[in-house]
Amino acid sequence: MTTTTGNPPIPLELVDLLYSTENVTVLTGSGISAESGVPTFRDAQTGLWAQYNPHDLATPEAFERDPRLVWLWYEWRRRLIADAIPNSAHTALVELEQLILHFRLITQNVDGLHEKAGSESIIELHGNILRTKCYEDGQIIEKWDDDDHIPPHCPDCNGLLRPDVVWFGEALPNEALTAALRASQNCDLFFSVGTSSVVQPAASLADHARQSGAAIVEINLAPTPLTPFADFVLRGSAGQIIPMLVESTFHK
Ligand code: OAD
Repeated sequence: MTTTTGNPPIPLELVDLLYSTENVTVLTGSGISAESGVPTFRDAQTGLWAQYNPHDLATPEAFERDPRLVWLWYEWRRRLIADAIPNSAHTALVELEQLILHFRLITQNVDGLHEKAGSESIIELHGNILRTKCYEDGQIIEKWDDDDHIPPHCPDCNGLLRPDVVWFGEALPNEALTAALRASQNCDLFFSVGTSSVVQPAASLADHARQSGAAIVEINLAPTPLTPFADFVLRGSAGQIIPMLVESTFHK
């Protein structure tokens, strides 16, 4: 394993690998959006789960108990995200997508910042907070009457509306999970960026990639359970490292 924290932070061996490969898969987590002002989940002090209990806000049981509280909490997060601007890490991934023949981007993030940055094909494993669906039948709903009820009602079946995100205890969208598995098993280079690598099944995608022969690169401020299995560990902020990686590989 090669770990770099200093200057130059990008090992030449990795530059050569990225330059020559046609199959790259990137998995991102909330750390990539931290520099856009979107809170992560597990960072001490600032992480959402350090301040709020997910069992009160991010489970079907919580919604059944207090749908108003859950809806309002997601409204607050939506407002935070609405003001957020993609950072240099999101933008560098857009460039990488254009430079690599088979590039797949898998995200656990629900903030829509990859799309806002201009990434074209994104596998959203945990849904998207900007979308709304019916709690009863899961149908995506784009417009509803503002009847002052919180949460609003589904215009089709009068059920309650909820954000289209995956809550604890819920299955991931099948199509996204299948695509993510395929992307992980069919790459030569797998990047794990800004994720604590503790939430399954996303955390095991790197294992699938490794077992299929891919080299694993971790970009993170701190060690994670994936660190010992990574071929390259780039210790630092995604907003600094990913642009540097693209620059060192394709512009020198
Ligand atoms: P976590 O909060 O668990 O982890 C964030 C990771 O990002 C940590 O490992 C940090 O060290 C790292 N990090 C923070 N700032 C960074 C930066 N600027 N550059 C690089 N790394 C940085 O967030 P996730 O791994 O995304 O699920 O959490 C996974 C899932 O758990 C989320 O999708 C969410 C949550 O419960 C659902 O909501 C279903």
